[in-house]
Amino acid sequence: MSKQDDHFFNTFSIVIGGLVAFSIVLFAIAYNVGAPFEAARIENDSVMTAKVQERTAPIGKLAVSGQDNSAIPMVTGHEDAAPAASALPVPKTAEETFKAVCSTCHTAGIGGAPKAGDHAAWQARIAQGKTTLYEHALKGFQGKNGVMPAKGGRADLPDDLIRQTVDYLVKLAQ
Ligand code: HEC
Repeated sequence: MSKQDDHFFNTFSIVIGGLVAFSIVLFAIAYNVGAPFEAARIENDSVMTAKVQERTAPIGKLAVSGQDNSAIPMVTGHEDAAPAASALPVPKTAEETFKAVCSTCHTAGIGGAPKAGDHAAWQARIAQGKTTLYEHALKGFQGKNGVMPAKGGRADLPDDLIRQTVDYLVKLAQ
């Protein structure tokens, strides 16, 4: 390489290096000046926030027996099908109702439920009178042992059937 080439090469490198450094400085300034606006723009972007909410939404909803769960779509495989609740067979007799609905808790004593046929567990309850027992079974009831959901969680059952089922439970326990 000639001396002239050397000189050209050095000058050229310095110029290029300076330009690179300058563009980095420009980039840093632009970044710092724009950052707060950029954050605000993202936070105020309704499409963006809607998408974030959609992606971070909980995958499931908890249906609580005895409460109104009608806002929760039932997964039936057919999105247009009727809610599964209405597909549940409605028991006809007290015994059927007990087996289909109440026995979930009242057979094993789940969640503090007095066991069916357990004289000791029912004595004091029966002593309250049928009116109270009916009321508690129909409307639900928070006792010392746990929560008795209204109609055992089957709001679709007729009141009379629930009363008959309470009679049935009382008879078992006497
Ligand atoms: C999810 C569980 C659950 C289901 C299902 C359930 N029960 Fe209960 N039930 C309870 C619990 C728990 C208690 C006791 C609450 C307490 O005393 O702390 C109770 C108490 C009762 C009592 C006594 C109320 C009182 O005043 O002492 C009656 C009567 C009763 N249930 C009837 C029914 C009938 C009828 C059904 C079915 C239609 C039913 N339960 C279904 C959990 C349940």
